[in-house]
Amino acid sequence: MSKLVLRGVEKRFGDTIAVGGVDLALEEGEFVSLLGPSGCGKTTTLRMIAGFIDPSAGTIEMDGKVLSTPAGSVPPERRQMSMIFQSYAVWPNMTVEQNVAFGLKLRRLPGEELRKRVAEMLDVVQMRHLAQRYPAELSGGQQQRVALARAIVIKPAVLLLDEPLSNLDANLREEMRFEIRRLHEEFRITTVYVTHDQSEAMVTSDRIAVMNQGRIEQVDDPHTLYTKPRTRFVAGFIGRTNFIEGAANGSDIVFDRFSVRRDALENGAALTGTITFSVRPQSMRLSRAPSGGAGKGPQVEVKVEYWDYVVTPAHGSTRLRVTAPPLEVYGVGESAWLELDPSQMAPIV
Ligand SMILES: Nc1ncnc2c1ncn2[C@@H]1O[C@H](COP(=O)(O)OP(=O)(O)OP(=O)(O)O)[C@@H](O)[C@H]1O
Ligand SMILES: [Mg+2]
Repeated sequence: MSKLVLRGVEKRFGDTIAVGGVDLALEEGEFVSLLGPSGCGKTTTLRMIAGFIDPSAGTIEMDGKVLSTPAGSVPPERRQMSMIFQSYAVWPNMTVEQNVAFGLKLRRLPGEELRKRVAEMLDVVQMRHLAQRYPAELSGGQQQRVALARAIVIKPAVLLLDEPLSNLDANLREEMRFEIRRLHEEFRITTVYVTHDQSEAMVTSDRIAVMNQGRIEQVDDPHTLYTKPRTRFVAGFIGRTNFIEGAANGSDIVFDRFSVRRDALENGAALTGTITFSVRPQSMRLSRAPSGGAGKGPQVEVKVEYWDYVVTPAHGSTRLRVTAPPLEVYGVGESAWLELDPSQMAPIV
């Protein structure tokens, strides 16, 4: 049985459809990100999971029990969930230790066990030596560690994080995303993590749900999302890509000056008419000499248009962005050979 299930969840605010029908299931111990641009409905979805707002349609279940319906919901304090809010770190009037202990006090944990759990948790987030400090005496990253400790120490059934790193500078943000993943490996709490930063989602998540205008466009593990995006939006949102068009023709898909065998492509048999493909710059190989058919896919002669690199098939017009190893330098105007890997070409809708 899945741990947490959203079925057809919608949320309308007057005429605004903030969330327009979301289906998502998390397994016990899974870390799933909701990733998407500002205003796509991430926070609203999280607030419904936490129980702060009711859905306009659909249900949310945990361990097979319905928690949220349009007609009424189990209140947040009875859901055994912890949430870290978008613009909210820690209580300023409590020390680090008091912040972390607070949730356990509410649960009336006996004094000795409480102190033990708090001390262990402070060790995990490397904050024990700062236990008596107040938040104003801590750096942003340290405050974030306290917020994480406070959320995790109560061993919630589900952990909800809304852009927990958005107030930190770029370096610290990068460091903390590894920290969040490390904490997840240690505690395996079922987690929903909201972010608009694709590389943050890539590092932390088992799976990523890409949201656009209130809907999930694709849910997959980071690698699949990167190599096999199913929509133009997903392909463009997750890193750089090329969109190229091919036309189905017998057993081949024909592109500008090269073709790929249909049976080498995923779902190749089903492709008809003109199809747009997403091809990552990193999934093609630029070289000085033809490989003589030794590679996985077709090789096409290209001309280098820009350093960094943009190339065009010889006598063709399609511009392709590609990468090359740092020590291989090609000059503008130079001829080279570009090899494609059909298994890393994704037909998109
Ligand atoms: N209480 C509300 N009343 C009216 N509209 C709302 C309300 N809360 C959210 N919305 C609207 O719903 C949409 C989704 O908002 P939401 O906060 O879920 O976006 P988000 O994906 O979290 O964005 P961000 O990345 O900027 O935090 C937005 O258009 C927003 O203006
Ligand atoms: Mg938000």
